[in-house]
Amino acid sequence: MRKFVENKLVLASHNKGKLLEITKLFKPFGKSVISAGELGFAEPAETEDTFEGNARIKAHFAAKSSGLPALSDDSGLQVLALDNAPGVYSADWAETPNGRDFEMAMGKVWDELQKTNKPAPHKARFICVLCVAWPDGHDEIFRGTVDGTIVWPMRGSHGFGYDPIFQPSGYTQTFGEIDPAEKHAISHRADAFAKLTSECLHD
Ligand code: IMP
Repeated sequence: MRKFVENKLVLASHNKGKLLEITKLFKPFGKSVISAGELGFAEPAETEDTFEGNARIKAHFAAKSSGLPALSDDSGLQVLALDNAPGVYSADWAETPNGRDFEMAMGKVWDELQKTNKPAPHKARFICVLCVAWPDGHDEIFRGTVDGTIVWPMRGSHGFGYDPIFQPSGYTQTFGEIDPAEKHAISHRADAFAKLTSECLHD
């Protein structure tokens, strides 16, 4: 496992929600985070059908473009009764001609669940795959998860994406209602990040 010793890294994402969460996670380690969006890089097409494959595409593209180590996050929501959809297509389900609409995407998840006629609880899982890539082509991969259920109607205004319909196991509030600091402690991103820090940031 290669250690991450540089002080600066590029976050290979244009997603403001992820930038905010990852900047906070890296703060205690004295690493400064700059986003691919701020550097004016284009977003490469996510052509793989796995989180790992798409995380690799994004991290290698940003590392090669910037000459700095890059971190990507490929994540999404898997709903068991929907054969793990939307999965790697979580962002695509929100696409409209006028940008992403997650209220629409959450409605779609609920509609699709109704069509299955399966009773609650509707088991679901957020997945986060982090990839650290270096300009020389080396990479390391870390996968994190958090289990929960899909609830309806959507609740809460914190977080981003599908947070208002995801209730983590053991909680009565959704990720949209939970205090953001609490979400950052238990989320799929926190789980993947804990693996990254223990294996890649510490001696
Ligand atoms: P991508 O990894 O950029 O392809 O997009 C992942 C998509 O999954 C995001 O746009 C969100 O819709 C969803 N997602 C990932 N992580 C979270 C989260 O922590 N909360 C809510 N939605 C998330």
